[in-house]
Amino acid sequence: MSDTEELRVSKITQGTVIDHITGGQALNVLAILGIDGSRGEEVSVGMNVPSDRLGRKDIVKVEGRELSQNEVDVLSLIAPAATINIVRDYDVIEKHRVERPEQVIGVLECPNRNCITTKDEPVDSHFDVLDEGVRCAYCDTIIRENIADHIQVE
Ligand code: CTP
Ligand code: ZN
Repeated sequence: MSDTEELRVSKITQGTVIDHITGGQALNVLAILGIDGSRGEEVSVGMNVPSDRLGRKDIVKVEGRELSQNEVDVLSLIAPAATINIVRDYDVIEKHRVERPEQVIGVLECPNRNCITTKDEPVDSHFDVLDEGVRCAYCDTIIRENIADHIQVE
């Protein structure tokens, strides 16, 4: 870690550090996590900080929270080089790179207003991950770009 980064975003005691996020995607990562600050969430964000590996990267540190697999799966679509660091008592006790999943459940919303998943039914969204985007498993609608525009608002 570079000293510059340390100065920009302080360390956390307990929670999750999402590092090596594609530059400019931090706010979309927060949207995936359903974090808008209104519930008092303790979050630090670094945007476009210098990175040896990526040139520029974003970083998100969430105090007192771990991520669900569904959240990590969607995150990997917009930040394929991200590293998830689990922090306990100030130490990184677990670190893993995100992997592109075969499918993503929940978190995204199907753009088709007639899709069963966007009706008032207890059906989670379900997208199959393709090379060119993601495809709704229920209605076959394909989201090709700006996947972040289809993150569910809670
Ligand atoms: N971090 C943090 N709070 C802690 C421990 C670590 O915010 N209590 C952050 C660090 O600032 C860093 C990330 O978590 O951005 C990963 O920490 P660490 O594994 O110690 O850093 P590196 O070895 O530089 O990570 P990598 O090799 O993944 O780049
Ligand atoms: Zn659909």
